[in-house]
Amino acid sequence: MSQQQVEEAQKTDLKELFRLEQLCFDAEAFSRRQLRYLLTQANSDFLLTRTDGQISSFMILLKKKNSFGMRLYSIAVSPLFRGKGLGQLMLDEAIKRAAANGFKYLTLEVSEENKAAVSLYLRQGFEVFGERRAYYKDGSKALLMRKATN
Ligand SMILES: CC(C)(COP(=O)(O)OP(=O)(O)OC[C@H]1O[C@@H](n2cnc3c(N)ncnc32)[C@H](O)[C@@H]1OP(=O)(O)O)[C@@H](O)C(=O)NCCC(=O)NCCS
Repeated sequence: MSQQQVEEAQKTDLKELFRLEQLCFDAEAFSRRQLRYLLTQANSDFLLTRTDGQISSFMILLKKKNSFGMRLYSIAVSPLFRGKGLGQLMLDEAIKRAAANGFKYLTLEVSEENKAAVSLYLRQGFEVFGERRAYYKDGSKALLMRKATN
């Protein structure tokens, strides 16, 4: 996976991205309209990797002005390509971009029930700095996590 390129998503990727979004997030999935907005709005970076000609992972970064952290709004790896380091590769890219944009932190929210994601973030050096009770549709708690960019 080391030669994998992270690239900017294009409008023509929307259909495939929406399919992957539904596959990865079920009830919490963004609508096609929400994804299109995130793909085209100026204050976000919408990035992806391709493996064997198909989208293998994507992530959305929000760059809100006057915020102390760049926000990792979404990250997903296709079930076909999990456990190969793509999640880590994308997080490394996110940290690089947060630093390059002058943010002190990369921040995110994750369900405490999402063991794979929580484990990925802890392994990558994120810390829990807060929580929101009964935040997700299944009633689970959100953990607020961040990693310093320096
Ligand atoms: C979470 C997710 C992005 C991980 O992607 P991935 O490419 O499989 O992760 P990586 O291969 O880079 O794994 C890195 C580390 O994450 C953790 N991890 C990944 N999958 C895991 C699993 N199923 N169970 C436990 N830990 C896991 C491990 O610590 C792993 O390190 P290791 O391989 O040395 O054990 C992927 O499972 C996914 O897309 N899930 C659905 C969408 C989602 O929940 N996104 C996060 C929303 S906040």
